[in-house]
Amino acid sequence: MKKLCGAEIVGIGRAIPKKKLTNHDLEKMVDTSDDWIVTRTGIRERYVISGDESVSDMGVEAARQALTQAGVNPQQVDLIVVGTFSADYRLPSCACLIQDKLGATRAGAFDINSACTGFINSFLTGAQFLKSGSSEYVLVVGADAASRMIDWTDRNVCVLFGDGASAVLLKRSENTEVGVQSHYVCTDGSGMCSLWIPAGGSSRPLTESLLQERAQYVKMAGKDVFKFAIQAISDSALNVLDQEGLTPRDINLMIPHQANIRIINAAARRLGLTEEQVVINIDKYGNTVSASVGLAMYDAFHEGRLKPGDRVLIVGFGAGLSWGATLVNWSLPCPN
Ligand code: ACO
Repeated sequence: MKKLCGAEIVGIGRAIPKKKLTNHDLEKMVDTSDDWIVTRTGIRERYVISGDESVSDMGVEAARQALTQAGVNPQQVDLIVVGTFSADYRLPSCACLIQDKLGATRAGAFDINSACTGFINSFLTGAQFLKSGSSEYVLVVGADAASRMIDWTDRNVCVLFGDGASAVLLKRSENTEVGVQSHYVCTDGSGMCSLWIPAGGSSRPLTESLLQERAQYVKMAGKDVFKFAIQAISDSALNVLDQEGLTPRDINLMIPHQANIRIINAAARRLGLTEEQVVINIDKYGNTVSASVGLAMYDAFHEGRLKPGDRVLIVGFGAGLSWGATLVNWSLPCPN
């Protein structure tokens, strides 16, 4: 597609809840161990919302940081795209709450529900509004509280997830060579039951017996998702690199969705990427679903691992099954 305008990242923010939950805390809740969780997943701790904390509040906090960094007022934002599968309410969208709390009075706002692919899908959707020239500033938020959607008695699932939010502010640019470049998005809905919430939607509204079956919580076929994820990262990364005429060696940093350190390492090996080329922060947050890619980007940026001119590969995958990637030519100067 002919690029009319560029879409570059001009601000980045994040929010995490107050309450930390370590693997040792989980040992007291289900039959698990710190050793099992670290060895099988790479996760050491995660944060979960409590009290009056909410997904929209985390999203607002992350968004404010991104706007402040860019020196942009909420009223200048044209569009807010929020990736989430755990919006505060079934109706309206979380994006509407964030738009109101931010005071982004001129902005359109909508959610994208694609679980762990939520950040990349929201990011790419937002970028298209800039590349077409129709918007000047788009706020992309990834925010989830998986802790409210998982069964805390199911050790197969509950050790994996954490809550949080991330946000990037995208700005239209005259220069199409900076910011978001080629992209790839893909879906295989035949894998829906690998990772899903069986009840509570319009197909199976909640009943007493469904609640007793605990069908309102995330169910996962861990091994199937594991195999899919490794393939999804390498397929989408190679597709984007191919479009750009690049090889994995040309990449400064890959920022993958943080689901399991073994998934990331296996995919990185397949692509021939070195440790220095891959961002991993799952040890600190667990799998934060739609927030994860943005949280990893935030940490990499604040650790000085992202500098103007870098080629950055962003990859997401998750429920659907769905997956996608994009290449970003980084332009935001290091924080210090
Ligand atoms: N603590 C201790 N033991 C456990 C736990 C636990 N928390 N969970 C499972 N086990 C046990 C199992 O019962 C099994 O015991 P058994 O051998 O006696 O039957 C044993 O550990 C091994 O279980 P496996 O399922 O074979 O473990 P595996 O190595 O596959 O790791 C895991 C499981 C971590 C879930 C892995 O399959 C995985 O990461 N899958 C991908 C998950 C994922 O990425 N999900 C999110 C996708 S993104 C999104 O859209 C939300």
